[in-house]
Amino acid sequence: MGDDTRAADHLGCAAGHGGPGVSGATATARTGTRLDVDALLDDRSVRVVVCTGSGGVGKTTCAAALALRAAERGRHAVVLTIDPARRLAQSMGLTELDNTPRPVEGVDTTAGGTLDAMMLDMKRTFDEVVEAHASPDKAAQILANPFYQSLSSSFSGTQEYMAMEKLGQLRARTEPDGSPTWDLIVVDTPPSRSALDFLDAPERLGSFLDGRLLRLLLAPAKAGGRAYVRVFSAFAGGVTGLMNRLLGAQILADLQTLLGAFDSMFGGFRERAEATYSLLQGRGTAFVVVAAPEEDAVREACFFVDRLQAESMPLAGVVVNRTTTTADDSLDADTALAAAERASGAVREALLVHARRSRRAVAEREVAARLAHLHPPVPTVVVPARPLDVTTLDALREVGADLSTGQPVARRLSSP
Ligand SMILES: Nc1ncnc2c1ncn2[C@@H]1O[C@H](COP(=O)(O)OP(=O)(O)OP(=O)(O)O)[C@@H](O)[C@H]1O
Ligand SMILES: [Mg+2]
Repeated sequence: MGDDTRAADHLGCAAGHGGPGVSGATATARTGTRLDVDALLDDRSVRVVVCTGSGGVGKTTCAAALALRAAERGRHAVVLTIDPARRLAQSMGLTELDNTPRPVEGVDTTAGGTLDAMMLDMKRTFDEVVEAHASPDKAAQILANPFYQSLSSSFSGTQEYMAMEKLGQLRARTEPDGSPTWDLIVVDTPPSRSALDFLDAPERLGSFLDGRLLRLLLAPAKAGGRAYVRVFSAFAGGVTGLMNRLLGAQILADLQTLLGAFDSMFGGFRERAEATYSLLQGRGTAFVVVAAPEEDAVREACFFVDRLQAESMPLAGVVVNRTTTTADDSLDADTALAAAERASGAVREALLVHARRSRRAVAEREVAARLAHLHPPVPTVVVPARPLDVTTLDALREVGADLSTGQPVARRLSSP
C-alpha cells in the first residue's frame, strides 16, 4: 500500500476516486494541486457554486467572500446565505428575513458586476412551494394545519430541502428580456454536523412525504370499491384505530388532512427535488468543500469528496480555512522554546506564543496534508485565520483575496 493510499485510508477516504476538473491547477512535488479560485469565478460556464462542509468551518463566510469577489470581477452574482452571523448579515444589508435577494451596497462595480444577497427563510420558502402547487383553498388548509407548521419549521432536512428549492427558484429567475437575472449563484449550506446532510436530507424529506406510513394513514380516506382496496383499507383502518388511541382523534384528523393535501403535491415535490439534484450534477455547478484544519473536518471533507465523485457531482476543490499562521515560519517551535529559556519579560512571552502557534501550525499542516495525497489530486487552497471574525465587506474582500492567492496544502514528505 502506498503512502497516499494509507493517508487516505487513515481518514476514511477512498483513494482512487474520480478526479476533479478545475483548469489552471498546478502541482509540484512538495505541494498538492492548487484550487484556482479566480479561474473558477471567471469561468462563465460555472453558474452555481455550492459551499459545503461540516458545522462552523466557514461555509457562510466563504460563500459570501466568493460571491463578492465574483461580483467585483464582473459577474452578476447572488449569494444565498443560511443563518449568517448577525453582523455579517448587516454588512451585506440583510436586515430582514424576507426571503428575497437585495442589492449589496459598497460593492466595487467598475468591472461591470453586481452582488445581491439573501438569507434563506425556510418556512417562507416552504409556504411559497405550497402556494405555487395547491389551489388557494387547499393551500390555506395546508398552511393552517398544525402538522404542516411544525414540519415546515423544524423537521430535520427541511432546511436543506428548502435551500435546494430556493436555488431552483433563483436559477429560474429571468429579466424581462428573458436573460437570467444572475449569471452566478453562490449557495451556502445549512449548519449541520455532516456535510453529507445537504445531499441526503432532501431525499429523506421526500421519502417522509411519500413514505409508507403516510400512505397507510391515507388509505382509509382513499378507499374505493375494489376488493384489494377494501382489504388494505381494513388493515390500514386497524393501524388508524391504534394511532387514534395513541394520538387522539383530532390530531390524527389533522395529520390525515395534511397528508391528503400533500398527496396531490407529491409529484411536484419529487420532481423539483430531482430537477435541482440534476442541476447540481450538471457542468455549470461547482462544489467548494470547506474544511477546518482539524482531524474531524478533514475526514468529513474526504467523505464528501468521495460522495461527490460517486454521484458525479462536480468538485472544484477544498478550502482549508482558518489555519494558524506564525510571524516567522523559519523559526521552529523547538528553537523558539530554547531561546525563551534564555530570555525574559516580553521577549520570553513572545517566543512562547510563537512556539505554541508554530506547533499548532505544524499539526494543522500534517492533518491537511492528507488532502494533498488523494488520488487523483483534489485542488486545495489554504486560507489563514484572520485575527477577528469576518463581519465586514472589507474583511470578506480580504478573505476573497486569500482564497485567490493562497497556497495548496503541502504534501507530507515522509510516510505517515
Ligand atoms: N478565515 C477566517 N478568519 C477568521 N474568522 C473566520 C474565518 N472564516 C470564518 N471565520 C469566522 O468563523 C465563524 C464561523 O464561520 P461561518 O459562520 O462562515 O461558518 P459556517 O460553516 O457557515 O458555520 P455553520 O455551520 O454554523 O453555518 C464566524 O464567526 C466567522 O466570522
Ligand atoms: Mg453558516
